[in-house]
Amino acid sequence: MKILVTGGCGYIGSHTVIDLIEEGFEVISIDNFSNSHESVQNVLSSVSKRAFKNYAIDLCNLESTKQVFEKEGKIDGVIHFAAFKYVDESVRQPLKYYQNNLNSLLNILACCKEFKVKQFVFSSSCSVYGNAKLLPVDEQCPLAEAESPYAQTKVIGEQIIQDFVKAHQSKATLLRYFNPVGAHPSGLIGEQAKQGAPNIFPRLTATLRGKYEEFVIAGNDYPTPDGTCVRDYIHVCDIAHAHTLAFKWLSQQKEDSLCEVFNLGSGNGVSVLELVKAFQEANSLKLNYSFGPRREGDVIAIYADNRKAKELLKWEAAKSLNEMMQSAWEWDKKIHTEAI
Ligand SMILES: NC(=O)c1ccc[n+]([C@@H]2O[C@H](COP(=O)([O-])OP(=O)(O)OC[C@H]3O[C@@H](n4cnc5c(N)ncnc54)[C@H](O)[C@@H]3O)[C@@H](O)[C@H]2O)c1
Repeated sequence: MKILVTGGCGYIGSHTVIDLIEEGFEVISIDNFSNSHESVQNVLSSVSKRAFKNYAIDLCNLESTKQVFEKEGKIDGVIHFAAFKYVDESVRQPLKYYQNNLNSLLNILACCKEFKVKQFVFSSSCSVYGNAKLLPVDEQCPLAEAESPYAQTKVIGEQIIQDFVKAHQSKATLLRYFNPVGAHPSGLIGEQAKQGAPNIFPRLTATLRGKYEEFVIAGNDYPTPDGTCVRDYIHVCDIAHAHTLAFKWLSQQKEDSLCEVFNLGSGNGVSVLELVKAFQEANSLKLNYSFGPRREGDVIAIYADNRKAKELLKWEAAKSLNEMMQSAWEWDKKIHTEAI
């Protein structure tokens, strides 16, 4: 089966490409390198031991996107990762996010319709839940008012796909990721965003490399066991493998117009303070940290009820927090000592 992965050179996309190839799929990608590096193509070829083909085009350009479908012939399914992903930036530049994330989705769906591609997997996010009342949060939880234009593109994206699936007798899964971290065991792929990522790990590792004097934990007066926010960290390889399983599962479903939502989280709530301690322990390091004020828009606590993905997709979040912390630090050291 041939799968088109969009954003296949990005963080989660690149891990998924490897997983799909290992499971016997033929994979092509569309990625314009707006947040990834051209060198990832060669790395993916060498890790997978196959020539990996990426089309460096912008999905917001419908004509170029169509040409890929025309050139490639039969495509059995699309896994759509390509999007901009920074919450803070989306607040400052909402149009950039609505334009890129929604136009690319509309164009890829238009191609699916025209070229009769019936299986679609979408990268959504736990940000659609906002501050959930009941934890762990399951897929039935009503969606909250989006906290940012980024989260809003995921809410709207899910809705667009639900409507599309109904109208065009397709099948889709909406995968709501919690907090992906870590890197591939080969040591050759990991997160290497073009733009300095404002997430917790890049700040934490930059502190260890001496860029900041201390790592400031935003808020320690939340109503959580140690006062810091609680998140659900999940190894990127586990997230990647869930896509392969979701695609296989979709292929087995006989029903037309099927759209199923799955949470992809470990199911464990880990506080930011616990994360910092786990990181130090896993890597035998000492990090200078302190507590600062809360950050606007931060959800207090969220972690997944992942039973649906376990039951239907036969998926397990197999890798431990320790493995996440070690591989994240190994990868960070590598990209800061070598020009990849
Ligand atoms: N990483 C996370 O913490 C996280 C959490 C929840 C959801 N997600 C979602 O998962 C998906 C993948 O995230 P990621 O962390 O791998 O991000 P990423 O930025 O590493 O990868 C996205 C890739 O898409 C490409 N891209 C973006 N817009 C494009 C366009 N118009 N045309 C062609 N290529 C384009 C970028 O160059 C990049 O390589 C995104 O949809 C993101 O919103 C990520």
